Amino acid sequence: MTLLEVDGIDVSYGDLQVLWDASMAIAEEDSVVTLVGPNGAGKTTLLRTLSGLLEPSAGTIEILGSDISTRPAEEIVDLGFVHVPEGRNLFDEMTVAENLQMGSYRHRDEFEETHAEVVEMFPVLEERREQKAGTLSGGEQQMLAIGRGLMAQPDILALDEPSGALAPQLAERVFEKIEEISTDVTVLLVEQHVDRALELADRAYLLENGRIAAEGTGSELLQSDHVVEAYLRG
Ligand SMILES: Nc1ncnc2c1ncn2[C@@H]1O[C@H](COP(=O)(O)OP(=O)(O)O)[C@@H](O)[C@H]1O
Ligand SMILES: [Mg+2]
Repeated sequence: MTLLEVDGIDVSYGDLQVLWDASMAIAEEDSVVTLVGPNGAGKTTLLRTLSGLLEPSAGTIEILGSDISTRPAEEIVDLGFVHVPEGRNLFDEMTVAENLQMGSYRHRDEFEETHAEVVEMFPVLEERREQKAGTLSGGEQQMLAIGRGLMAQPDILALDEPSGALAPQLAERVFEKIEEISTDVTVLLVEQHVDRALELADRAYLLENGRIAAEGTGSELLQSDHVVEAYLRG
């Protein structure tokens, strides 16, 4: 089965069309599917549409075989698609533990088990469980945002620029964690760090000006003249 199938969607904000005939797919065997592209290309808009926060004016979206084009966001989470938004969107005044708890509302009965898995992956979240999320460092906040997403037991975890605003060393730690997560959960990774994101990708899409400008395996895109010239040189 195809985990995700986006076919020819158009998406607009009012009169401003941002996505044009965009198509992409995640196959069951994919571990990481990457969406790269410059600032303003429409990457976040695409993720928000997949999450049910925006409705396409044309085209179809299927997640795990269900058409989601007109479904509310909660139902899309229930289908197994969980979106960790750009800028993390944590509850700053709540503790780390409370933030993780908020992530698990779908599976309260399995809280202990899932929580144990998440803190095993991110031990810092256990060390800092009573600390308010807003007082964590940028890297810790990103780990918490990802951990909270995992608490919902997704089949597909969509991460919008998880390395954003992090120093290179911390960004690398995040990429290592993504690799680890992707052995269990399919990751849809949106990134501006084109080289690292393509290295991780089984399948990759380049979005430019709201259109899919290239697609292929991660290594195909890494070697494409267009990608090298526009994003990797210099
Ligand atoms: N809420 C909004 N209202 C109007 N225009 C928006 C809104 N959000 C994003 N846009 C516009 O849509 C385009 C794509 O933005 P976005 O999806 O955030 O791109 P990316 O994530 O690739 O940087 C940009 O031109 C941006 O200004
Ligand atoms: Mg964005």
